[in-house]
Order: sequence, then C-alpha cells, then structure tokens
Amino acid sequence: MPAAGPMSGKWTAYLCLFSTLSAVFTPALAVKEHDFKKCVQSGFCKRNRAFADHALGTSSWESPYNVLPESGTFKDGQFQATILKTINDKGETVRLPLTVSFLESGTARVTVDEEKRQKGEIELRHGSKARKERYNEAEQWVIVGGLGLDKEAKVASQDKTQITVQYGPSSKFEAVIRFSPFTVDFKRDGSSQIKLNDRGLLNVEHWRPKIEPPPPPEKKEGEEEKEETPEEKKEDPSKEDESTWWDESFGTNTDTKPRGPEAVALDISFVGYDHVYGIPSHAGPLALKQTRGGEGNYEDPYRLYNADVFEYILDSPMTLYGAIPFMQAHRKDSSVGVFWLNAAETWIDITKAKDSKNPLSLGIGSKTNTHTHWISESGLLDVFVLLGPTPHDLTEKYAELTGTTAMPQEFAIGYHQCRWNYNSEEDVKDVDAKMDKFKMPYDVIWLDIEYTDEKKYFTWDSHSFPDPISMGKQLESHGRKLVTIIDPHIKNVDNYPVVAEMKAKELAVKNKDGNIFEGWCWPGSSHWIDAFSPAAREWWASLFKYDSFKGTMENTWIWNDMNEPSVFNGPETTMPKDNLHYGNWEHRDVHNLNGMTFHNATHHAVKSRKAGELKRPFVLTRAFFAGSQRVGAMWTGDNQAAWDHLKASIPMVLSQGIAGFPFSGADVGGFFGNPGKELLTRWYQAGAFYPFFRGHAHIDARRREPYLAGGPYTTIIASALRLRYSLLPSWYTAFHQAYVDGTPIIRPMFYTHPSEEAGLDIDDQFFVGNTGLLVKPVTDENRVMVDFWIPDDEVYYDYFTYEIIPTSKGKRVNLDAPLEKIPVLMQGGHIFARRDRPRRSSALMKWDDYTLVVTIGKDGKSAQGDLYVDDGESYDFEKGQYIHRKFVLDGKTISSSDAEGRDVKSIKKGDWLKRAQGILVDKIVVVGAPSSWADKEVTVESEGKTWTAKVDYTAAANGRAAFAIIKVKASIAADWKVVVA
Ligand code: NOJ
Repeated sequence: MPAAGPMSGKWTAYLCLFSTLSAVFTPALAVKEHDFKKCVQSGFCKRNRAFADHALGTSSWESPYNVLPESGTFKDGQFQATILKTINDKGETVRLPLTVSFLESGTARVTVDEEKRQKGEIELRHGSKARKERYNEAEQWVIVGGLGLDKEAKVASQDKTQITVQYGPSSKFEAVIRFSPFTVDFKRDGSSQIKLNDRGLLNVEHWRPKIEPPPPPEKKEGEEEKEETPEEKKEDPSKEDESTWWDESFGTNTDTKPRGPEAVALDISFVGYDHVYGIPSHAGPLALKQTRGGEGNYEDPYRLYNADVFEYILDSPMTLYGAIPFMQAHRKDSSVGVFWLNAAETWIDITKAKDSKNPLSLGIGSKTNTHTHWISESGLLDVFVLLGPTPHDLTEKYAELTGTTAMPQEFAIGYHQCRWNYNSEEDVKDVDAKMDKFKMPYDVIWLDIEYTDEKKYFTWDSHSFPDPISMGKQLESHGRKLVTIIDPHIKNVDNYPVVAEMKAKELAVKNKDGNIFEGWCWPGSSHWIDAFSPAAREWWASLFKYDSFKGTMENTWIWNDMNEPSVFNGPETTMPKDNLHYGNWEHRDVHNLNGMTFHNATHHAVKSRKAGELKRPFVLTRAFFAGSQRVGAMWTGDNQAAWDHLKASIPMVLSQGIAGFPFSGADVGGFFGNPGKELLTRWYQAGAFYPFFRGHAHIDARRREPYLAGGPYTTIIASALRLRYSLLPSWYTAFHQAYVDGTPIIRPMFYTHPSEEAGLDIDDQFFVGNTGLLVKPVTDENRVMVDFWIPDDEVYYDYFTYEIIPTSKGKRVNLDAPLEKIPVLMQGGHIFARRDRPRRSSALMKWDDYTLVVTIGKDGKSAQGDLYVDDGESYDFEKGQYIHRKFVLDGKTISSSDAEGRDVKSIKKGDWLKRAQGILVDKIVVVGAPSSWADKEVTVESEGKTWTAKVDYTAAANGRAAFAIIKVKASIAADWKVVVA
C-alpha cells in the first residue's frame, strides 16, 4: 500500500473537491501541477534526458549499440540480428535481439528486446512476483491486422557494415540498416524520411542486479569526518545517475521498482519535416510544440501516462486521460509517421533544427528537421514506421494495424443529455418531456454515479430509482436510450455480491505482495477488476445480463469512467506501478493499456447481454490507448465552463481524429463551473460538429439543460441541435468511412489540403467528412465574425444563405457570425444528404425521406458525393444489408448509382432493406444552378419508369448564388438519373 492512508490529507482534499458535500466550486482553481510528475521527477525520463544532453553535447559521442554483423539474417521480409550494447569500459556487452519486419502494407516495424536471462539471474527484490521479462503483450491488445510480411522485400545491397532492404509499393521504400553504431535510415524514392538512432540516443536500460552500496567505513574514535574535495564532489557527466534506479518516491508514495531501471528510449528524426501532429491526448495546439524550452516552447516533454488530471490546464504537454503514441510528420506534399507500441509511461521530446547541406549557403535552401526523443519506462522497443506519402495513407495504414472505429448505432451520433446527476426517475422523465416541449431533439439521457445504491455498480438507489424499467420504457417510446455509468472500482463492503465474487474468484488487481489491491475511489475503499484476465472479463460479462443487472433493458448503454485507473490515494491519483496484473505483469508495464482493457471488457459484456440480440454496443470511455476506437467513443474529460476550454476542444478533437480514434467530443458547456448563456450557446453550436455530442455538468454546477437558457438562447440552441439532426445522414456516412479505412470524421486543413503550407498550423476550422462543409465554430466571447482560411480555389457558399464567398486560395475571409449563426461554408463540388423533417430523436427519423444538397463546383457543372445508410443498429450491414449511393452531377444530369459498384438487385433483402426501398430522395437543392435551368423541367428515370418534375429556380441576387429545388421523389435505394431539359 502506498504510504498515504485512506484518510490522508490528500485523499480528503480530493474527496472534498469532488463529492456531493463539496464546497462551492471555484473556477479559478487550476490543476494541482505538483500532484503530477515533471520529467525531472520521473527517474527514467530524467536519466534519458541527461543521456541525451550528454550525447548531444559530446562531439566524439558514439552510440554504444552495435549490430553483430555475423548475427544478421534476412528471410521472407524480415531482418533479424543481435545488437550488442557495450555497458562498461571493460567492453562487457548485453545482447539485444533486433527484428526489422517489412510488412505487406509498406509499413516497417523495428523491435528490440533484451535477451532472456537464466532463471533467477535478475533478482527481484521484496519477494516480488513480478514477471522477469520485458512486457511483450501490448501487440495482443493493440494490433488486429497488417502484420503479413512483404515477401517481395529484397536486399538491395549488403556488406559487413550495413544492409539495404527495398520494400513497399513498387519497392519505392528503402531501409538502410547500419551496424556500427546501429541506425536505420528509412527512405522513400531515394531520399531519407525517418532516421532512428541518428543522434545516438538509443538507450535500452538493461537489467542488472541491485548492488547495495558498501556501508560507509566506520569512524575510528576521535577521527574527524573527512570532507570530500571539490574535485571528488564534481559529478562525472559520463557517469550514469543511479539515484533513481531503485526505490523511487514521489510525494508520499514509494515505487519499489523490483526490476530496477529498464527504460527504452530512441531518437526518431523526421528529415525535412517541420510539423508534427498526433500523440493525443494533450490540451494544446494540433501542431505539436517543441519541448526543450525557448520562446513559446514547452519545458517538459509531452507525457503519455493516463491520469485523472483534476482541472487540467491548457496549452500544456501534461498527460491527460488517454494515450495514443502515434505521431505524424508533415511538410508540403509529404507525410510520414511512427507508431510507438509501448504501454508504459512515455515521454516525448520534440525539437526542430535547421539543416543546411552547404555551410556557406547561409541558410538558403536549408530545411528544418524535427527531432523527437521517445522514452518509455519499461517494455520492448517496438516502433512502426509509415512512409506515407499522404496523411490519408498514414491513417489508413495505422488503421490496418490497430483497427478502425466501430460502426456506431445511429443514436450514438445524435445528441446526449448528461449531468452529474439526474437525481430520480421523475427528474429523468421531466427532462425528457421538457426536451420535447422545447422541440429539442435528443437521443440519450445519462445517469452518473448517484443512481447507484451507495456507489455499488450494478445496483440502483431504490429510493430515487424504484422502477428503472418504467423509466427506460418511457424513453423507448420515442426511440430514446439511457446510459448508466459503471466504473472499474468495486466497493469493498460486506453484503455486496459483486465484490464478494470478484474476491472469491481472484479477479482483481493485486498489490506488489500478491494480495488484493485496495485503494480509494468514489465508493471509498475499493478493489479494481483486472480486465487483463480472461476469467475476469467473462465474469464481467455475466454482470451485464438483464437478469443480473436488473433495471436495465435493450435501450440501456454504458459509460466507463475513472479507468486510467483513477485511485484517489494512489501515486499521481492512479495505481502503484508495482501492482500486479494477470500473468504477473507489473502495472508499470501496462498502465496505458489498462483503460482500454476495461472498456473492451464492457463492450463485449454489453454485446453478449442476451443471446441472439445483436445490437452494436455503445460504451463511452475516458481512458484509452491505440485500438480503443474498435470498442466505443471517448470524451476529453473534465474541462471547464470557460471560453478557452471551448477553443481548446477543437484541436483536441481533431487530434483524436488523425490519431485513429475519431469518435470523440468534449463536454458541451464545460464540466466544472457555470457557463454564461452566450458561452453555453456557442458551445452547443461547436458541439453540433463534434463527432460525439454530449452536454455534461459537474454535480455542483447549476442546472443547464438547454431549454433552461431562455430566449433567445433556447431557440438558438434548438436550431443547433436540429442542424445536427438534419445532417445525421452525412455524419453517419462519415462514420462509415472511418469504419472502413480509419479516415477522420472531422478533418484539419493539413489532412485535406496537404499541399498548402499556410494551412499546417490551422486548427480552429475543419471539414466534416466528404461533405465539403467547412466549419469554424465561434470560440470567443462577444465575437460576431470569424475569419475562415480558404484552402483552395473552389467556390464557397454560406451554408445558410447560399451567399457566394468572394475569395481565393490562401485568403482569409470574414463571415458574419452573430450569436444565432454557426459559421459553416459549403465547398463547391459536393453532394451531401440531409433529413429535413424535424423529429424528436434519430430513431423517429428512420424512415424519413432525404434531401440532397448539390453545391456546384467552380467549373459550373459538376459535383459528387455519397451516402451510406443501414438499419442503424444491428450488424446486418456486415451481410450487405445497406445502401451506399454515389451521386454525380455532370452538366445537366444528376445520377445515383451504387457507390461500390454492387449489383444491388441481386442482394437478398432483409426486412430493413425491403422497407428502405420506399424511402425517397424527396428533393434535390442545387446551389449555384446555372440560369439556363430556370423554368425548365427535368426527366427522372428510375427502375424502368420515367416521369417529369419542375425546376423551382431562384435567380442569383445580391451576392447570393442561384439555386434550384427539384422534387425528385425517386427511391434512395435505386439507380436513377435526373436530366434537366
Ligand atoms: C469524472 C468524470 O470525468 C465526470 O464526467 C463524471 O461526472 C464524474 N467522474 C462522476 O462520475
């Protein structure tokens, strides 16, 4: 047990801040930075930064890692060899097995392990049961595909000093593996893109036995204490700092570190790249900053160590709730990336430096390189190298490895109404009714921890929630759902069968001594389910069965919170690193994976609630890792009701998207504090464009259901909600693309326009899917205008007025944005779908007809787009039960055909697909329609029939584009053609 006892000052303070009994919230409070480590307080980070300083400051520095040339073999796309690490002046070495795998996708993987010792050679202290191996199971949790070896990869040249392997598409990629010292230079089309260990910072802290320092010589009687001379005192910079090798304390906690130092670190240089993105989650700009000081830079590396960071600060490299160690580097027209597969605490330093081939060029023609330094506390060195060349290639290849976003049920992308807490069934029913009264569509209402009987999950407070099924049924009657929270800490109390069973079956995380770990969270004393254990996951699934978790029904879904895991009295509010998981792996090794394993267990539990019920689960998580996208959605945690938090949410959500976990959003309104009405309204307008759209508030915050705002705010918020709902078909289509190949749902400028250098730092505007909708939410108080940056020479129309925005590529253009207006532009050349009939929930829109919006491109005659539709809930889409249309405007013809070229007639139709044939494209709105269309008729041809319809034409006026409305009334599921006479 960590030193801080349950009622220690820290815990009491934490509880006071959070609990129902807490004092009034003070928004000015900021994160207790001193509760979280800086690099210098984290032994392995400090050691590796010092190692880097020494290496980079020593002109004669040579990395002590050399490949034994005769150990190398290349076979079937894989190079294997042994790296010898020289560990002392005597030339003693440690053997590190190296594998470089060339994968069919064109991705390369470099893995460095430490040779297994004879049993018992690494003495673990304190009788610890921790496993004596480098953690090598992250792959089992994270990687779901793409590991097939590229059998075409070939050795282009080889000698005693290096081997060059050609691989990838048309063998355009090349890896030059140098032996002494070990480096790898990854090239594309002959030029270097990514270099490993080029700066010699590779550091695999090999295991060693602890040698207790000799006791100080006994003083003889009358002998004076001998002072060290200044010379003796002076530290030898080349000597390793051993002070943090073993027991390491932070605050009142001591980590016993039974295996001693075992970090892995590597420098990764992006040659010629001056922008890097990714490695969420951090509250900072999308383009990552430098981290080694200097004006505008951070002092500390970016940290990835999932943590419950209370009232996080903005513009900071501090860790947050989740970690995705995937980084992308970008320059004009070229993108490359690395995925660092390691689940231990990780720090990443970033610096940039100008590089000039010719020292006399005075910087002309020089390029910027971005140097990164990755430092993980334990585990394997395992890095995937992706050579692009486009941002889309990177997200696609990354998705091949870690999987794509689970296809959500349609309700999950509607609006979610949450707060801590809805206090009773009446409260829930009342909010439900009021949302209807104020014509505010929503799909899901949420219950936070207070619904339980004293924080015992899988129970209900019988006083406030005597009949949850009746509540669930009321919601179901208009297609709505309920989400209940279930956290991983299980109350340690008598007469609670859940905890009794978990203990009896030994399914909980253990402490370093192998006994059940006890810590503190919402329920007070608690134990934690160990979701790494297959038996624990099986047991977890049993708890969600309808006859086990009574009061839940088909429309109940789950929220997993506090799964970093948050432990109020633990070091940095989480678990001691020397805790033990299934297989006797230390918590240290798996910390960043922990949240995902719990989220995954819940996803599968909910999926198997009842045999034969095959609905796609919805589970929200706070903690996450690479791969979490396969099992649900995330949100950015406990933000604040402040304008700067609204602003920060946009790059945070964009960063999630490019890092493969796009189903993300921030608490609308801000969790802590009370937003003013203007802020609340602007937040709804922004939230309507988060992939995950949920309003949430802290228990001490005043009630702020959107209908409470009063005029004009309520009406404005209602329009934002309706806008979200009318665009649901397009959101769903974007989710489908994310499901297919990992493409982000909302996309930053560098992603959509990789050739435009001026767009690389822009992170306050984005495109939605393939719709061409360019959105720039207002995130400043009293702001009634925004300036869009226009990335290309397309024509842009105001979404609401069809006004043509006079602009050109690279220009900034102002758009009026009074409170009632969300700044949304339509890029010419697209066709996207809406459902315009206002309804109360997405379920009620299921059979509604569509409107297609065509925005004619700058050539005046073309546009295209697509629409994906399925039943919105089951897995039948996996069996072809979906509609996927491609729409094309070509001159005077608008057509619809199957987007995948399927012969749709031959698909055997299930109930949904049969009925869906009757859903129509009610109308097509053509923005920018040529004047020659005025007063014309169109002929519609579909399914062997032909009919005519009128073009309802409105001419251009006062800067507004002309537009035409055509009542088409053709089936959404069928091929059709509309020809203007
Ligand atoms: C912390 C979560 O971040 C917050 O959203 C939630 O309301 C509280 N835990 C209580 O469950």
